[in-house]
Amino acid sequence: MKFRAVFNRMHRLFFSSKQDLAIATCSFHSDNIEENKLLNQLRIRIEATGPLSVADYMKEVLLSPSSGYYMKKDVFGSHGDFITSPEISQVFGELIGIWFYNEWLKVGKPQPLQLVEFGPGRGTLTDDLLRVFSKFMPHGTQLSIHFIEVSPHLRKLQALKLCSTDTEEGIENDLLPTKYGFPLKWHSSLESVPENFSLFLAHEFFDALPIHKFQKTTDGWKEILVDYRGGQLQFVLSRSPTPASKLLIDPNENRDHVEISPETGVILDQVLKRMKEDGGISLIVDYGHQGTKTDTFRSFQGHKLHDPLEKPGEADLTADVDFSFIKKCAKNKAVIFGPVNQADFLKNMGIDVRLEKLMESATPEDQKSLKSGYKMLMSPDEMGERFKFLALYPVVLKDRLRKYPPAGF
Ligand SMILES: C[S@@+](CC[C@H](N)C(=O)[O-])C[C@H]1O[C@@H](n2cnc3c(N)ncnc32)[C@H](O)[C@@H]1O
Repeated sequence: MKFRAVFNRMHRLFFSSKQDLAIATCSFHSDNIEENKLLNQLRIRIEATGPLSVADYMKEVLLSPSSGYYMKKDVFGSHGDFITSPEISQVFGELIGIWFYNEWLKVGKPQPLQLVEFGPGRGTLTDDLLRVFSKFMPHGTQLSIHFIEVSPHLRKLQALKLCSTDTEEGIENDLLPTKYGFPLKWHSSLESVPENFSLFLAHEFFDALPIHKFQKTTDGWKEILVDYRGGQLQFVLSRSPTPASKLLIDPNENRDHVEISPETGVILDQVLKRMKEDGGISLIVDYGHQGTKTDTFRSFQGHKLHDPLEKPGEADLTADVDFSFIKKCAKNKAVIFGPVNQADFLKNMGIDVRLEKLMESATPEDQKSLKSGYKMLMSPDEMGERFKFLALYPVVLKDRLRKYPPAGF
């Protein structure tokens, strides 16, 4: 709450200003430049080419090969900066596994089959999902796993979890066998993933993609940029509309502040094309809104809100996913279900029955953590309502889906 107040004040500051390039916030002193390699990199880039869009800033901070946030350490769990649903309870991944298995059966068990996960983090979600697949999939099913992951460090953690190795040559191998027998391969983008029927999964992936931020002023739409002035990073407003503001803002937009992720549109287009040409089913899970929220760009460090311009590379940067934008991209190209609240999806998928079953054989300590995990995933004031599920199917399945709608929605 405190951060929100500061951030709002920041915005009032630069949006009420009559100057074209109004200064918003100052938070990071030049003394820290020596300590923060990424800040130095950003300063040099800004001095050479001018203020950066928030999208370029996010990309550099999260994915810079030498010191980007995701590139060098394990950021998940109680010792990291945030915790995600698969890390909270095995039930989460198991129910998603049952969902995918069920939907695959419904479309006639096409093979070869691929599970394609975008941004798999520690690999926990796929681990729980494959436990389900290995139990139910008919023996000999041609299933391969494809991870779209840019972080070499996280690739190692994923290999350790699923393949019990973290050697670089293992990860660079064509296909590395997982402990479930199904082979796994890593990719930097969807382009190198083979063209086969795929189950596409993105959990807390789209919120990590770069966003552009725009503000409506009396002088029209301006873009919020990141500048380096007086020894610190600062938000500023563009002098005039930018190419991004001219291209991306919907002429009917009625909010006065919007965040748009063009990379989300590009990746969705690739997925939709694959689904149309090779067949597939997509499940997108993330925190987000339906085109109603305005300023959601924020940073986390040690499970606390953090100034997004402070200590770049040492804290997570994220923005709520705009599900109305996803639906707009998929309109007429896919059959869309959702978004529905996480609590509703998990309830419809039988979380209560699964929990009861696990409790029967759990120790008192495990029972306690199963119950607290359930509460965190389901409670409306924790993750139950903030997180949404959205599914996409190829248009050719429209009639069949009318007859047999997907479970969970
Ligand atoms: C917030 S984490 C979510 C991890 C995991 N899905 C979970 O829920 O626990 C974001 C993941 O996306 C990856 N990532 C971020 N941007 C990416 C990009 N442009 N391409 C591929 N992976 C990316 C990160 O390295 C990380 O694995």
